Amino acid sequence: MTSPSLDRRTALAGAAVTLSSAASAQDKLPTVLITGASRGIGFGLATKYAERGWTVIATARNPSRSEDLQALAAKHTNVRPETLDVTDLGQIDTLAAKLRGTPIDVLINNAGISGGAENQVFGQLNYDAFDSVMHTNVLGPLKIAEAFTEHIAASGQKKLINISSTEGSLGSISRRPDYRNYFYRASKAALNMEMVNVAKAVKDKGITVLLLSPGFVRSDFTAGIDLPIMISVDESATQCMDVIDKATIEQSGMFFNQRGEPGIW
Ligand SMILES: NC(=O)c1ccc[n+]([C@@H]2O[C@H](COP(=O)([O-])OP(=O)(O)OC[C@H]3O[C@@H](n4cnc5c(N)ncnc54)[C@H](OP(=O)(O)O)[C@@H]3O)[C@@H](O)[C@H]2O)c1
Repeated sequence: MTSPSLDRRTALAGAAVTLSSAASAQDKLPTVLITGASRGIGFGLATKYAERGWTVIATARNPSRSEDLQALAAKHTNVRPETLDVTDLGQIDTLAAKLRGTPIDVLINNAGISGGAENQVFGQLNYDAFDSVMHTNVLGPLKIAEAFTEHIAASGQKKLINISSTEGSLGSISRRPDYRNYFYRASKAALNMEMVNVAKAVKDKGITVLLLSPGFVRSDFTAGIDLPIMISVDESATQCMDVIDKATIEQSGMFFNQRGEPGIW
């Protein structure tokens, strides 16, 4: 007959095996890196991936200044805030070097700025704003793609997701009567074009590159606008993650909206 103490030891050993299998399952959960995770859609994505148990490398210009991000990291040990200004090419290289050897399953180029509608009125264009918009929305994502290719290639899922916009769609905008957001619209069209190129450049590494429009989302970006077609950050993040989950290498270089429908170039 087994002694009670042996029973207890067996039970403890069983529990240890269960715990260690849980730990190794946890180890196998994917890693996502998100730019602009301090607020808005980036923060929404960081929250939802954290709740799934993924490792979330939540990058922001000033992580310590985002109370939301600090609270998220305090709640989830799998959230790792990192400093990254996407216009700072040196900072991109530094973070890529710091994360060398860390596979990144999904990298989301989300950080973006509108440049301010007031700076984009034809006849009074503010060309300083053009530089900021292009550096943030076009140059940053391209440099990040280049710097993190090996991290993504070393992962299980191998996905590079770029948050674009229907504002960058020549097919949609040319049919609309309004003319505005010159820099922003040009930046998202440029993002689309550069990522179509990147998709080809990294295809032999098995990396899927998508352009993803998140919908018309209530965030600081759209402050002051209230239209029935607008969706919440939470809804946008949920839908975008579904598109990302289902993305395949055959779709690489394609443009989708948050419902997974093909976007118009
Ligand atoms: N909201 C919409 O309806 C909508 C529609 C289509 C596409 N998008 C795109 O979705 C993305 C996110 O938009 P959102 O609505 O979440 O905007 P948001 O609420 O204004 O958030 C923008 C995020 O980008 C970050 N960011 C700006 N410049 C940065 C830089 N140089 N380096 C690192 N991070 C930087 C901001 O960080 P700080 O806190 O440091 O400023 C913030 O986290 C953008 O690419 C935008 O173009 C939005």
